[in-house]
Amino acid sequence: MAFSGSVTAPSPRPSAKRLLTVLAGGVVDRPPFWLMRQAGRYLPEYRAVRATTPDFVSFCLDPDKAAAVTLQPIERFGMDAAILFADILLVPHGLGQAVRFAEGEGPLLEPVTDRAGLARLSADRLHDKVGAVYETVRRLAASLPADVALIGFAGAPWTVATYMVGGRGSPDQKAARLWAYRDPDGFAALISLVTEATIGYLGRQIEAGAEVVQLFDSWAGSLPEPELRRWVFAPIRAIRDALKIRYPTVPVIGFAKGVGPLTASLAAETGVEAVGLDGSIDAGFAAAAVQPGAVVQGNLDPLAVVAGGRAMRAETERLLRVLGPDRYIFNLGHGVVPETPPAHVAQLAAQIKAWRR
Ligand code: CP3
Repeated sequence: MAFSGSVTAPSPRPSAKRLLTVLAGGVVDRPPFWLMRQAGRYLPEYRAVRATTPDFVSFCLDPDKAAAVTLQPIERFGMDAAILFADILLVPHGLGQAVRFAEGEGPLLEPVTDRAGLARLSADRLHDKVGAVYETVRRLAASLPADVALIGFAGAPWTVATYMVGGRGSPDQKAARLWAYRDPDGFAALISLVTEATIGYLGRQIEAGAEVVQLFDSWAGSLPEPELRRWVFAPIRAIRDALKIRYPTVPVIGFAKGVGPLTASLAAETGVEAVGLDGSIDAGFAAAAVQPGAVVQGNLDPLAVVAGGRAMRAETERLLRVLGPDRYIFNLGHGVVPETPPAHVAQLAAQIKAWRR
């Protein structure tokens, strides 16, 4: 941005992509907003398209359908960013692990629990197997409104590994934690395979048109500090550093859920430009301890959107006041849940769009 020759303060540029402006340290008329899991089962138009392809992996790998459902929340609510519709478990699929989603059970993978299992995986066919994702990104980049940014994403290696090792979601990520303690070198080989694959996967998304990428480390909170540094911070740092070499201007958002005050260390230890706050992080703490070092994103309770009304309005106002308007991206503390009334999301969107610095 060029402000030379002007003595006035930089004025907000409402027509530019607010998300990119904020991530570049610029000034906006109001904070940008998008919601994790903004495309999904709470939208009847999502359920209608989803019903046409029962197998979830095939659905994610259908560029027509994936692009269509990515755009649905943008068309309905006017978010400032679209997030590619895909899933973090497409990387294990691309590495040759059997992945399926069972109705009512969530993801089921053929578990990889030791070095022999690891030896059966390979990144050789990754880009063939998930190439449809890059096509989805290309289509989105060509069709998004000019003021809407496109976010690519991947799971961070630790969270992806918890599913690869456990074979399914678990409350305590026990299988991966045990492998990491019992055979750290073997587990490091798994993390390294996923890290390298993720660098290639996100790089291709960026080349196809993703303008920002987010890493989801949903299960970071199950690790004590030394393990957290090794399996969460270090792989995120490696991905971020590798992407910076080739794509220096593309911002990275890191979302490490459940790490409490260590959220304040994430940016310094990994170099990410922005940090996602989960619902447990106090906004005042984030303003004082996280925001000086990074743009922050978050963290309205998804259940406040289910409840709607006064609670949602008051919480939204508080977040905008404490964290906005600069260095702030409005979002939830975790994904939109299926029972969310779309009308509440519309009210939330209207409140944020009406807000002015
Ligand atoms: O945010 C978006 O709108 C983009 C799409 C997106 C999905 N999953 C689509 C999805 C993103 C960013 C994800 C990330 C993801 N996937 C995470 C990290 C974020 C988080 O929520 O913690 C994780 C852990 C997964 C793995 C995963 N995918 C699980 C555990 C499940 C089953 C649970 C559930 O909600 O059903 C999924 C399935 C999934 N991924 C759905 C959607 C819309 C629902 C499946 C369906 O439509 O049948």
